[in-house]
Amino acid sequence: MKKITLIFGSPRKEGNSEIMAEQLIASRPVDVEVDRFHVSGMKLGGCIDCRKCWSKGKPCIIDDDMQKIHESLISADLIVFVTPLYWYSWSAQIKPVLDRLLPFLSEDAGANLHGKKAVLVASAGDDQESCFKGLIFSFRQSCSLLGMEIAAELVRTDLYEKGEISDKVDVMEEIRRQGRDLF
Ligand SMILES: Cc1cc2nc3c(=O)[nH]c(=O)nc-3n(C[C@H](O)[C@H](O)[C@H](O)COP(=O)(O)O)c2cc1C
Repeated sequence: MKKITLIFGSPRKEGNSEIMAEQLIASRPVDVEVDRFHVSGMKLGGCIDCRKCWSKGKPCIIDDDMQKIHESLISADLIVFVTPLYWYSWSAQIKPVLDRLLPFLSEDAGANLHGKKAVLVASAGDDQESCFKGLIFSFRQSCSLLGMEIAAELVRTDLYEKGEISDKVDVMEEIRRQGRDLF
């Protein structure tokens, strides 16, 4: 593995989902390159369904920060989608990124995500793991359509306050162990 792309969907810097993701990749080999995108605050709109994917030689005609993310995704071996659970689904901040993966399904795609590894990382305030059902369904179906291989699904409940996962030593250790299996 040469490169990891992380897409952080929380508006909270150093929130629970970000801490989980960083812990998961903490055991990566030193020569692995890491691209990090904190999408909250980036100039990033949703797909406008113009059906003009690749018409200008690149995935999307919209001139915004998704261009940088597209480039990173194309060269990544492992893509980590990181989100807080918002209303049983993706955060509004990361959803445009998912919508803008449409060019990779296009028939005349200049690149695609086939065979890349995908990881879902999500945190929730709820105490029932079933709260992730909708998010996991969306992730699995999307990976299947895009031809991506799911390498891990890391979801954790009982996390409401900012950064509180750091105090849960056992959970942090368990995540680090899970991360070792990725590399
Ligand atoms: C707008 C909003 C919606 C939320 N919706 C849910 C939800 O549906 N289920 C849940 O368990 N927690 C929900 N939460 C709580 C967050 O998922 C939880 O605090 C999470 O750990 C935040 O992750 P972060 O620190 O990475 O931002 C919501 C929080 C916000 C702000």
